[in-house]
Amino acid sequence: MHGGSCCEGEVKKAPTISVVGSLNVDLTFRVPRFPVPGETLTASQAMTAFGGKGANQAVAAARAGARVRMIGCLGNDEYGERYREHLAGEGIDHAGVLAGAGPTGAAFITVDGEGENTIVVHPGANHELTVAKMSELTDLFTESAVALLQLECPLDAVAGAAEVAKDAGATVILNPSPWDPESMERNIPIDILIVNEREAEALPLGSEMGCMPQGCEAVIVTRGARSTWVITEGRTQEVEPPVVTPVDTVGAGDTFAGVFALAHAEGLGLLDAVRLANAAAALATLRPGAQEAMPARGEIEEMLSRGVRQ
Ligand code: RIB
Repeated sequence: MHGGSCCEGEVKKAPTISVVGSLNVDLTFRVPRFPVPGETLTASQAMTAFGGKGANQAVAAARAGARVRMIGCLGNDEYGERYREHLAGEGIDHAGVLAGAGPTGAAFITVDGEGENTIVVHPGANHELTVAKMSELTDLFTESAVALLQLECPLDAVAGAAEVAKDAGATVILNPSPWDPESMERNIPIDILIVNEREAEALPLGSEMGCMPQGCEAVIVTRGARSTWVITEGRTQEVEPPVVTPVDTVGAGDTFAGVFALAHAEGLGLLDAVRLANAAAALATLRPGAQEAMPARGEIEEMLSRGVRQ
């Protein structure tokens, strides 16, 4: 069924989302506080897990109910092979995940006693994704409602993916993380931007909120525990996230982006999509890890039904 509400007995088809982005192996250490230069600290816990902003967002969207096609580049190594099996286990189509010559991307993460984190990334094979490869993968954008992009892959490839996705009729959602100011100077055809507060400060939003980057229909500004801003032409609205006590914030932003993309693809309005994404992101902070902590749709709906104050 296209458009309108779903009728009794009719099964709503899950929307398809194409995620173009990074796949990393994360090595995470839990520390009481972040080390200072020259200092050696003892971690209370060490964990190796599948990560990368692109794959994290793909997993978040898939667990929330999307059919996901992942496009990226893994190393020609054991981690690459294991990552493909993992994606298949999450029900993610990985035909667009290429095999590079270099090692699989890696991230070194510290999480402190407050659940805050620092991340150092070695891109490895993620940086082998090229604009030429993107134009060979156009089929992977056909009939996708949304293309979801971040900036852990080369900017040329991201811009190329956005063009291909737009031509295929998808809504292009960019989460410009890690921040690269050049991304705003490239005329990438972005429909919706998802940024955190620090990234928002660097955006050409003008002196008054509501002055949008060219061509963009909405800018969503996530602000941790504080209200999320939903900025559209001439208007800023606020959505309160659920109140939680985080144990680990790694991947919370990725959870928000993946679930927002799914909600938008399902046809939810901006504010409702942000509510769903906020609930998912809050849940993702309650458990250690990025993908390990991401909730299924049922848990998200359940948290939403309990309201903002838990
Ligand atoms: O956003 C969290 C992610 O950033 C981690 O999984 C790490 O791989 C880095 O890409």
